[in-house]
Amino acid sequence: MMSLECFIFILMTFLVTGVQCDMTEVFAEVGSLAVLPCQYSPASNVSPRIIWSKAGKGTVWRMEKSGLQMWGSSWSPNGNQRVRCPHTQFERGHYSLQILGVTEEDGGVYSCRLEQGGLSVETVVMLRIITVSISPSAPMSGKDVSFTCQVTPGFDGSAAAVQWMLNDSRFSRQTRVTSPGDKFKSIVKEKASPRLSGNWTCVVGYGGKEGRASAPLTVTGIIQPPFDDTKVYAAVGSAVTLPCVFSSGLIPSSPIWEKLQPGSLNKRAPSRVAPSFSPSSPSSQLPWDQSASLKEVDLKDEGKYRCSGIIQGERLARNIQLVIAKIDSSVPSKKKGSVTLTCQVSDTSEVTQHEWVRVTYDLNGTEAFGSIHKGKTLSISPLSEESWGTWACRFSGRDGTLGNITYHVPMMSGLSGPKSSGYSQNTTAVVGLSVFLLALLLILAQLYKNHRRKQGIFQYPAMETIIHTVSNEREEREKYRVKVLP
Ligand SMILES: *[C@@H]1O[C@H](CO)[C@@H](O)[C@H](O)[C@H]1NC(C)=O
Ligand SMILES: *[C@@H]1O[C@H](CO)[C@@H](O)[C@H](O)[C@H]1NC(C)=O
Ligand SMILES: *[C@@H]1O[C@H](CO)[C@@H](O)[C@H](O)[C@H]1NC(C)=O
Ligand SMILES: *[C@@H]1O[C@H](CO)[C@@H](O)[C@H](O)[C@H]1NC(C)=O
Repeated sequence: MMSLECFIFILMTFLVTGVQCDMTEVFAEVGSLAVLPCQYSPASNVSPRIIWSKAGKGTVWRMEKSGLQMWGSSWSPNGNQRVRCPHTQFERGHYSLQILGVTEEDGGVYSCRLEQGGLSVETVVMLRIITVSISPSAPMSGKDVSFTCQVTPGFDGSAAAVQWMLNDSRFSRQTRVTSPGDKFKSIVKEKASPRLSGNWTCVVGYGGKEGRASAPLTVTGIIQPPFDDTKVYAAVGSAVTLPCVFSSGLIPSSPIWEKLQPGSLNKRAPSRVAPSFSPSSPSSQLPWDQSASLKEVDLKDEGKYRCSGIIQGERLARNIQLVIAKIDSSVPSKKKGSVTLTCQVSDTSEVTQHEWVRVTYDLNGTEAFGSIHKGKTLSISPLSEESWGTWACRFSGRDGTLGNITYHVPMMSGLSGPKSSGYSQNTTAVVGLSVFLLALLLILAQLYKNHRRKQGIFQYPAMETIIHTVSNEREEREKYRVKVLP
């Protein structure tokens, strides 16, 4: 099919007998290297004369039979040749023209004419330049942002297919296509949000060829967590950090953390923010990191929080939900000598699975996991050695583990827990004695641990603190019990 451009081109160039018009479509992203094909099967061993020219712009590059090369003045500014025709390919009949760092002005019709003997053959190439521009390139979350894909020279939009991609997935949203004058444009308008951040690519299909161009979008604002109502999981008694990080360099004024009242998203109850709730140590934090931490999570800390700060006169906010996990232990009345541990997560909307695993530590403090027991509850027999030690309840959602909580089962613990009311007097006496022995053992263990710590052998200080806290608690509980015994 002879297109209009081709026809005009032929009119503009001198009609030479033997001219063929096979227009080849070539797409190139602005700034990239464009390759305009030109190929002939060599008719003889005589070197041909090759002339690459652009419609309306004259000769781009030319090579005489002698091998002498010449560049059009605008293609070789100050001796920097923007175009080249790699001679290594000549033998195979390839005379492709390469244009480095194409600009929109380079778009247009090119011709490659080969003269050999009395014969003259011509190839016509249409070079279209694709540009993607995003305005503004770093919008604030919530502001308007527009994406424009422009093709120069343009074409009839109805004959073209345009697809927008964000990273590697299709972005199917209403686009506006315009083809005024000599440019083709596809425009997408959106409200900036962190989920639009990424590499935006416009893929254009026309005349059996496909071209693409990309541009990155960075949405500024609160980047961590990227979405509202992000859940943060923490075990009772553990430390937790609620993230709230603004884009690097964006320093919010009057940042606030608030706890939202349950049921209403917007009613604030700042007084209910727990006393242990504090912005993380300012010295270690960059001014755009407004994350806050709780040193020891309590059941009443559960709920929704809002972090906000003023940027360019507007308050940006992010809601974060703190979900608390705890373990309940109970002694089923009919099953003596058994303890049921239940893994409780205050919001299970994202939890799809619970599993229990026994954790053991070697001398180096390295964790090792035993076999996995699926389910929310775990029934153990505290009298059996297999139950002693640390048990962890891991809860996970569709995208993997959300968190875990550990429970320490000391030797005979089932008999010393707060809910061990179902035991007879007889057992309690035995328990009293063993508890005393256990306390002694723990003190010895503590002394030994301190000794080891002085030697600096313990490699996991944080974990040690957790274990230490747990055993301290237990010691206290048990001391109390020893005291009340006659
Ligand atoms: C796209 O990729 C970038 C960089 O890997 C990433 O930061 C961004 O979140 C991704 N965007 C989406 C929507 O997946
Ligand atoms: C963006 O996507 C295009 C097409 O998928 C790819 O060629 C380009 O390398 C990407 N750019 C970045 C910065 O990831
Ligand atoms: C403890 O760590 C040392 C050095 O990292 C290693 O050689 C040794 O095997 C470890 N011991 C155990 C019980 O894993
Ligand atoms: C519990 O979570 C901590 C921190 O993510 C991890 O180091 C530990 O291995 C987890 N324990 C279990 C039993 O999965």
